[in-house]
Amino acid sequence: MSARPHIPVMLDAVLDAAAVADGDTVVDATFGHGGYSEAFLRAAKCDVVGLDRDPTVQPRASELAKAYPGRFRLIETPFSDMDRHDIPPVDVVVFDIGVSSMQIDRAERGFSFQKDGPLDMRMSRSGPTARDAVMQLDEAALSTLFKVYGEERHARRAARRIVEARMDGDIATTGQLADIIETAIGRTGKIHPATRVFQALRIFINDELGELYRGLCAAEALLEPGGRLVIVTFHSLEDRIAKQFLRDRAGDVEGGSRYAPAVTREGPAPSFILPRRSVVKPSRSEEAVNPRARSAKLRMAVRTDASAHDCEAESWHPPRTELPTLERLA
Ligand SMILES: C[S@@+](CC[C@H](N)C(=O)[O-])C[C@H]1O[C@@H](n2cnc3c(N)ncnc32)[C@H](O)[C@@H]1O
Repeated sequence: MSARPHIPVMLDAVLDAAAVADGDTVVDATFGHGGYSEAFLRAAKCDVVGLDRDPTVQPRASELAKAYPGRFRLIETPFSDMDRHDIPPVDVVVFDIGVSSMQIDRAERGFSFQKDGPLDMRMSRSGPTARDAVMQLDEAALSTLFKVYGEERHARRAARRIVEARMDGDIATTGQLADIIETAIGRTGKIHPATRVFQALRIFINDELGELYRGLCAAEALLEPGGRLVIVTFHSLEDRIAKQFLRDRAGDVEGGSRYAPAVTREGPAPSFILPRRSVVKPSRSEEAVNPRARSAKLRMAVRTDASAHDCEAESWHPPRTELPTLERLA
């Protein structure tokens, strides 16, 4: 089934924050439909390296490589590995987190509760699927996932109903799971009752929050002094990671105010400065034409000449509570 092309979110604000110039090397860490990559290639005589872990973006990447000979290439990789590829020092790294409209719209990818398809949800072709999680995790683990990654109030009820339902047979499709969740928690507001459970499974299966944290570390390692980091996020869990990473790297400590300014904490020198403290949000007119933009937030930072922090040495703690890991799935 054909999918609508992805409409790039906050494109003008991204171009403004990235400020690409002739001769720059740009990493578009989330290539998708290449909306940002193409805009960078048009804006300046720069080179763009697109990254994506979804192999289905390849035909679109080939179009760009043909239209901009020698200036564009795609690497199929998780962006957390961007510093392990042969990429020259970089002037701009841009992240546009989450899934693309093409991924959501294609029933066979299994992201959508509105179109029945296999319960997959993987952005790449490898690793466990959402079906594996739903069939194998115990009730407590499912409940924690729905609560933490989905911020679902009825997490326990949803988890219990899944465990009951799977005793009667395989839960193999998005439609089956959506019906089970609807039976468990009912339909009240405007949003589909399965929205949060689907979000939680998607974040889990793609290790989206771990990827984001490690991707920011990899970008820190690749960026030249003066290089710009631009991050567009779509929900609070992602934005919190981006915000905390940037505050940490800019040397901020909690508790600063205009009466008692934040002091730089002891530790490595700041590897980023934050020219703008506040996030940029889409205009009302953009939200009206592209509903996906509604929850977007853009943050940007500029790399200093300090060494990158040792991310391996820092422990990545998922939020609040003990979460299951993908390694638990067969
Ligand atoms: C929101 S779309 C990007 C859309 C793009 N900015 C555009 O204008 O067309 C996100 C893309 O990033 C990819 N992606 C998400 N997480 C990733 C990761 N950790 N590593 C590599 N690619 C990732 C997804 O497969 C998807 O194609």
